Amino acid sequence: MIDQCDILAALRWHVDIGCDEVIGDEPLDWATLAARPAVARAPAGASALPPAAAPVARSAFGASSGASMFGAPVTADLPLGASEAGASARARAAEARSLEELESALRAFDGCPLKATAMNTVFADGNPAADIMLIGEAPGEDEDRQGKPFVGVSGKLLDRMLAQVGLDRSTVYISNILPWRPPGNRSPTQAEIAACLPFLERHVELIGPKVLVPLGGTSAKTLLNRAEGITRLRGRWFDYASPGLSGPVPVIPMLHPAYLLRNPIAKREAWRDLLTLRQRFPG
Ligand code: URA
Repeated sequence: MIDQCDILAALRWHVDIGCDEVIGDEPLDWATLAARPAVARAPAGASALPPAAAPVARSAFGASSGASMFGAPVTADLPLGASEAGASARARAAEARSLEELESALRAFDGCPLKATAMNTVFADGNPAADIMLIGEAPGEDEDRQGKPFVGVSGKLLDRMLAQVGLDRSTVYISNILPWRPPGNRSPTQAEIAACLPFLERHVELIGPKVLVPLGGTSAKTLLNRAEGITRLRGRWFDYASPGLSGPVPVIPMLHPAYLLRNPIAKREAWRDLLTLRQRFPG
């Protein structure tokens, strides 16, 4: 007989490795997908090709060999490859002439596999006319449920930090590197970041902030295209340039509030960085 503790331990293990979302009624064995009938990307109305002639579907991240990690050809309808996804994102983002258009384009974009497991597309919060634009990493569980960035525990800490220097969501604008929650809050992959980055770059152009504040290492490294970790980047001034901006925008990376929750001693550095920001941009 199966012990209830074993079931709970098995559930805990699944959550710990990131399997915390049910996305289908039946489990899908990706190792045996090759044996299933092909589901090719065919234009609407086109007749299905026989399996032998079916186009090799794209693998998740651009490996055009059509082989899965198990060595078998993958014939299911998978997301676009990384370079295709990036190119498609760039083209769609560039067409957006307003925040509304950009949000619609992002919601319609299927090039990032995270969209399939997320409940919501988390676009932004705060005042689009604000001088200060904060950029986090990716939505967590609360953000995914509510569809807004930084509404969970780390968001509450962020609000308290901002309040200490006279700021709130009416005087800042907030978005993330990724608009979709990585399952189990794992770190985003480079392919996921590359697929979504063109939307964030256009987002920054449309907002045209006076200063950018990346929160945490992923955001700082992505925006600044640098390899150093956040402890080296935080509190220093950099420039961010993009063709659609009238000039370089100053950037000051800060520690992520989730990191501060785990390392309260680091709050003194965060306090110093907020004061540095307010000295240059008193509002
Ligand atoms: N952490 C982030 O980086 N972004 C959010 O929106 C929430 C938590």
